Amino acid sequence: MANSFEEVISQIKDRLDIVDVVSQYVVLKKSGANYWGLCPFHNDKKPSMSVSPSRGIFKCFSCGEGGDALSFLVKIQNREYKDVILELAEKYGIELPKKYTPSSETKDLKKDMIKACTKAAKFYHTQLRSADDANKAMTALRARNVDDSVIDRFTLGWAPNKYDVLYKELKKEFKDDVLEKAGLILKSNSGGWIDRFRNRIIIPIQNENGEYVAFGARAVDEGQNPKYLNSSDSLIYNKSKLLFGLYTAQEAIKNEDGVLIMEGYFDVISAQAHGVENAVASCGTALTAEHVKLLSRYTKSRRIYLSFDTDNAGINATKKGSAVIKETLAALGDVKQFDESHISSAADNKYACEIRVVSPPQGKDPDEFIRTTGGEAFKEFIKNAPLLIDFLLNNILKEKNSARTPQEKAVLVEQIIEILKDVNNKIIQSEYVKMVSSILNVDENAMLKELQRHENLNQYIERQNFNKKVVTNSSQFEIKAQKNLLSVFLASGNVLSYQQLNELLPENIIQDESLIIVKNTIDKLSCTINNVKELVKSLYTEFIEDDNLTHILTDIVELSESFNGLEPDEFKRAVEENVARLKRCYQEKEAEIIRRQYKQVNDNDIEALKLQMQLRDKIKLRTGDK
Ligand code: CTP
Ligand code: MN
Repeated sequence: MANSFEEVISQIKDRLDIVDVVSQYVVLKKSGANYWGLCPFHNDKKPSMSVSPSRGIFKCFSCGEGGDALSFLVKIQNREYKDVILELAEKYGIELPKKYTPSSETKDLKKDMIKACTKAAKFYHTQLRSADDANKAMTALRARNVDDSVIDRFTLGWAPNKYDVLYKELKKEFKDDVLEKAGLILKSNSGGWIDRFRNRIIIPIQNENGEYVAFGARAVDEGQNPKYLNSSDSLIYNKSKLLFGLYTAQEAIKNEDGVLIMEGYFDVISAQAHGVENAVASCGTALTAEHVKLLSRYTKSRRIYLSFDTDNAGINATKKGSAVIKETLAALGDVKQFDESHISSAADNKYACEIRVVSPPQGKDPDEFIRTTGGEAFKEFIKNAPLLIDFLLNNILKEKNSARTPQEKAVLVEQIIEILKDVNNKIIQSEYVKMVSSILNVDENAMLKELQRHENLNQYIERQNFNKKVVTNSSQFEIKAQKNLLSVFLASGNVLSYQQLNELLPENIIQDESLIIVKNTIDKLSCTINNVKELVKSLYTEFIEDDNLTHILTDIVELSESFNGLEPDEFKRAVEENVARLKRCYQEKEAEIIRRQYKQVNDNDIEALKLQMQLRDKIKLRTGDK
């Protein structure tokens, strides 16, 4: 009998002990009923994360992260929750529902595809030293200073200029279907199979585990197009989730707590071969959010060096790449915006990320720079790599000599303001303005004013949005009171039934959008679940894909503590007090909104009169309520 996916999750949760799970990543110290440790989700100085074995949750009182054991694992491994569950199910030998069990067929197919790619990599590698026409490949590689050790280290190879040498070799061992799905062969016009890669230098691509899954193939002849021919995505290869060089770079990325993202295969090959081991590249695609998440598993401070070509295309790639990085990590806070590496107390982990740009001079691409100037010189560049913001500013300031007229200067200032308006710290921002205005020889105050004008515009738009929100959003206090009310459903040792609890809550008393979702989910689950422990477990499962709801749920579980072990009468009174206080809040807020609207309309206006009457009613109601 196959389990449903929910059952699988439930069985996994039964085996996960929150203290065991967290202890694998955090040193925990027992204090009272709970454990405490340094929160791994922000740069914690003193232990602010608590782990409650009785409630099965963790919660950081500093950064607000929290959840159950499974959400901890998903969070800390930064993986899709489904992958984590599938892995745990396998570990615990829990039977999966049919649609999640990789059929033995696809499992075998994947294995065979990897085997075929491995064989192909070896085959091409041998050909580089034995094929009749391998000479030109060797010459091309030598011209790039690629020596034998590098060839061996990256298993570089040669696909001869013949139709089916690889196919002939591999068909002895693999089915056509496997070779085709692995992207190694193609149907020819005449209907037979031919090799996909011909007359090209072969760069095998390994996944994170070092398995061969794809190939990049560089043209060697003048006019041979395209310059690179790449494997397409397949069952074993997903370009947007894989980074070239990561298998060999991962240790260095961890050790140096930073990663170099480059543009091309040969940039990475040269870098790693010359001692810059923490280098990776995407394979013929732009950087994706998935790449960024993958990398942030290896570098704790999320220090990312972008090292693209020095030409315009490279600068654009830098801008696009950094935008993807910022967007992906936005929830973690600010990007590092000024260099404080000389300040010894500078904490490494207080930023969402640190983006620096490594851009060798003279329009050379990093590969060329490294092989002509050497790894040490390149490391010097990395050491002195400017922050993204400085790089972008410099890039604009380079144009200063060609901007002489006021109009031309204004254009540059405009571009600079686009960058500076994102600097949150006003001191730092004004320092930048001082510096830039003196370089451009424009008036510092005028520039500041111009910057403020842009910011005001932004703020105006934000305020407009905020005003709209005030009506629907609730104050911190209201949120807390509503959470308190919901927490009664999760209190253990509770003497009242779900029905009785529900009757204590007036209609529409929960108004916060997220909390309404929580309440509805509790309603839904309460039909099938009788004890609180099961309810909490199922709620976490329901919210598994939603960080925000998981945090909110953790707060509620935390708050439920205060309702534990109350006598029915005390319990009721506590709930009623909360309800009354919350009602007063809502009325006050409504009055406030009307007052605000009232201020905005003209005195003689009929609308104003109507509002005034409403307001009076509200205030009466409120005082009558007291
Ligand atoms: N690329 C690609 N297909 C192309 C051109 C480029 O997939 N037709 C990808 C490759 O991954 C390549 C990277 O983009 O490594 C950078 O391209 P480019 O700068 O043109 O190549 P280089 O790495 O400089 O290659 P080379 O030094 O061999 O000219
Ligand atoms: Mn290049």
